Amino acid sequence: MQSTMKAAVIDKYGGNDMIEVKDVLVPSPGPHEVLIRVRAAAINPLDWKIRYGGAKILTGSKFPKILGSECAGEVMETGRKVKHFNNGDQVIGYPGIRRLSAFAEYVCASEQTTFSKPKNITFEQASALPIAGLTALQSLRDLGHIARDSRVLINGASGGVGTFAIQIGKIFEANITAVCSGTNADLVKGLGADRVIDYTQKDFLESGEHYDIIFDAVSKRSFGECKKALAPTGIYVNTLPSLSVLLNQFLMGFFVRKKAKSVMVKPNATDMEWMKMQIEARKISIVIDRVYSLEQVSEALAYSETEKAKGKVILSL
Ligand SMILES: NC(=O)c1ccc[n+]([C@@H]2O[C@H](COP(=O)([O-])OP(=O)(O)OC[C@H]3O[C@@H](n4cnc5c(N)ncnc54)[C@H](OP(=O)(O)O)[C@@H]3O)[C@@H](O)[C@H]2O)c1
Repeated sequence: MQSTMKAAVIDKYGGNDMIEVKDVLVPSPGPHEVLIRVRAAAINPLDWKIRYGGAKILTGSKFPKILGSECAGEVMETGRKVKHFNNGDQVIGYPGIRRLSAFAEYVCASEQTTFSKPKNITFEQASALPIAGLTALQSLRDLGHIARDSRVLINGASGGVGTFAIQIGKIFEANITAVCSGTNADLVKGLGADRVIDYTQKDFLESGEHYDIIFDAVSKRSFGECKKALAPTGIYVNTLPSLSVLLNQFLMGFFVRKKAKSVMVKPNATDMEWMKMQIEARKISIVIDRVYSLEQVSEALAYSETEKAKGKVILSL
């Protein structure tokens, strides 16, 4: 008889009342997959957007679905073609947006999206790396072309993505202006921000300053608004594709000097190895705001939905 596990399941899209933590069958890994005993799973705004049905184009209309895109834990079983992992390995798993299923006691992930866990951090911290960590890295390095002395403004600097972005910016020796509410000023300064703007007191667009990169981690200010605060060849990067960004990127990309780009995070082994090196060298720390149990998944998602998290919200199993 196949064994069962607890999982956060939805039978249709909707609010938190759609989630039921119940017994389901433990999945079996395919030939190129590992079965992970989940010790922690990170909550992302994506999770409540998916639960509402906001990413249906990727998540489809087949139910039941187990929520959750990323986790950390131990390998319990490997498919017969898996080369790099063995039972007992401590790993980070990214089943991803199409597959989901990380808010459960066990999950399968492809070997390609399973990564070794940095040794000096907890499962809770490790579970936050594929989405928030790599979104910050890929936004600043690949889209923003960050370099030494770049003037970088991070809007939403105290959130899950923003807290990584400040530290990654400092690794690239950039000059970081962090935008957050005043209560989070000490947090972002502690992570290395050179300057803090409290958005409840002052609009960063009205200061007359210019930036080489404006990374709007929370996508609250449009490219149109931000243009005036960009240096002549400055780059605006946000985390939610919008029409103005798409137009700039694809239609006018060759003719305009100020660029706009939207990130779509792609967890991969090379970038996860880079993160692991920085974490093991203690150049990046993972900020955790609140930890919930699997049974409290609805509370955890409700807290994330307030958009007031300071760093990451995590499920611990
Ligand atoms: N495209 C992708 O691949 C991708 C990947 C990851 C995330 N995302 C998206 O990126 C966004 C951010 O993700 P996250 O995990 O960082 O979210 P989060 O952790 O929930 O962000 C919370 C932070 O947002 C800040 N905030 C709220 N309103 C603000 C405002 N008006 N101005 C400035 N800051 C404000 C809050 O700061 P205060 O408390 O100081 O107000 C809080 O610290 C989400 O929309 C998510 O879906 C996209």
